[in-house]
Amino acid sequence: MEQTQWYKDGVFYQIWPRSFKDGNGDGMGDLYGVIEKLDYIQSLHVDGIWFSPLYPSPGADCGYDISDYFDIAEEFGGMEAFRKLLEEAHRRGLRVIMDLVVNHTSDEHEWFQKSRQRIDPYTDYYIWREKKPDGKLPNNWASMFEGGTAWQWDEVRQEYYLHLFAIKQPDLNMDNPLVREEVKKILKFWLDLGVDGFREDVITFISKAEGLPDDIPVPGAAGILKYNHGPHIHEYLQEFRRDVLSHYDCMTLAEAPLVSPGKALQYISEKDPEKHDIDMMIQFQVMCANCLFTDYVPMKFSLRRLKRAFSRWQKKLYGKAWNMLYLENHDHPRVISRYGSEKYRTESGKSLAASYLFQQGTPFVYQGQELGMTNWYPKSTSMYEDVQTINNHLNSPEKKRLKLYHRASRDSARTPVQWTSGKFAGFSEHEPWFYVNENYTAVNAEAEDRDPDSVLNFYREAIRLRKSLPLVRYGKYREYYKHSQKLYVYERYMDKEAKRIMQKSTDAGKYEGKDTSGRLLVVCSYSDLPEEFRVPKGFDPAKAELLLGSEKEAAAQAAADGTILLKPYEARVYLFHD
Ligand code: GLC
Repeated sequence: MEQTQWYKDGVFYQIWPRSFKDGNGDGMGDLYGVIEKLDYIQSLHVDGIWFSPLYPSPGADCGYDISDYFDIAEEFGGMEAFRKLLEEAHRRGLRVIMDLVVNHTSDEHEWFQKSRQRIDPYTDYYIWREKKPDGKLPNNWASMFEGGTAWQWDEVRQEYYLHLFAIKQPDLNMDNPLVREEVKKILKFWLDLGVDGFREDVITFISKAEGLPDDIPVPGAAGILKYNHGPHIHEYLQEFRRDVLSHYDCMTLAEAPLVSPGKALQYISEKDPEKHDIDMMIQFQVMCANCLFTDYVPMKFSLRRLKRAFSRWQKKLYGKAWNMLYLENHDHPRVISRYGSEKYRTESGKSLAASYLFQQGTPFVYQGQELGMTNWYPKSTSMYEDVQTINNHLNSPEKKRLKLYHRASRDSARTPVQWTSGKFAGFSEHEPWFYVNENYTAVNAEAEDRDPDSVLNFYREAIRLRKSLPLVRYGKYREYYKHSQKLYVYERYMDKEAKRIMQKSTDAGKYEGKDTSGRLLVVCSYSDLPEEFRVPKGFDPAKAELLLGSEKEAAAQAAADGTILLKPYEARVYLFHD
């Protein structure tokens, strides 16, 4: 089947279902709540929804521990609600993509229960190892969620099993062809039901190095160099593509920790079908502007690091592969708290939005990001839920741990979405499953919707604008003032190559008649002081048209000498006419 690459024109909204909206009054988000909010989702001008796992799960990792791949959890409304959601979403032109979690299952999955009893054909569905004669563990790999070894002794089978994540998330043995057949069945099942694609959870981990050798002891992640981008990864992904995905006009998006653009091109190249296993990758470099690899090794925020990550991916993938763009998801604290300023919440929320929404690629917006939601600051570590959080720095004093959790925990992105200033932030009528961020009386969708200068209305305008500009879809990228720690400035422009790509593109018709002349200049301040910005050389200030500004009273044009005084965290999007 022809792959139309429809996702290239799209903007996605990510829903983490437990905390999006409760529709049946039990305190837990569900699909009824999503259906209720489809008008709202549409008002963002997005084209699709990515759902974090909706499947039945014991909840050890909030749904990323699946016990049945062919169903929707009862608490989310079951299959009936899902069918309805799918129909309603499609009716509105919204695509739906599912999370595919096949590096591991729940330990309560039937496959694991049978595997531990050596019941065929499940005996080798997981990665089992005998006890070594010297009593040592099978290797030195660490679990990313348990703060210790990745091996768990199983009393039933009298062997160790591998779990790169929580103890309740045993890793599947993808080298077993039967397991790969199961994955294909899952893909086929959901595609036949009508879903439009998959976000593939830690998919680059599925092929482990032969013999499971010891790794260098990277703190907290020993093993990662042996199981990330493993020996058969491309073979397995190609198999999924060849046997299932290529028969549908669907999209795949791979989560890929520790991936450089060069490495990514081995998975998502559009030049070589042998190197096109999947369509886009979720890279982590943009997540590491204030930490080292993980939020739990914090560093001071560096705008230069962030800009370097943005620019590297924009430049290296241009004309070769397609970028996935994001600043938030369910695995990181809120971006205003990380890279912006809670004091300048609205201003920095908009500047962050403009920083990525005019880049080339498919942007994703995480629930609440568009409302300018910020981190949650509970008074005790006992209030945290997330398995990754609560096992971190277990032996540190409470005060130190709390400070780290405030800064690093994913739970900050998992508090219920704040819809109104009313009881439980309008998320539910019942006490929610998780704490509501105390700032909900000020930060909520109702207030954001009412205020024309809100973060929410800026997202709406920015997304609408981006979709009207062929420059954003096809243009090249150039960065200015690279060394500035206060301003992020980038240009999108068409040259011969860009025009050729546009002409060759099958869906360029959408932009027919739309002007591709001129150059787009996006200026984002990351400073809490006013900053003077000079239009770069080669841009004529007299020809500048302000398409979008985060400050309503911003002068429509730069001063005649090309100087613009930006307010704290101000963002502007200019079109410079030829
Ligand atoms: C991915 C998910 C994360 C989950 C982990 C284990 O990183 O995004 O939420 O905890 O995989 O499945």
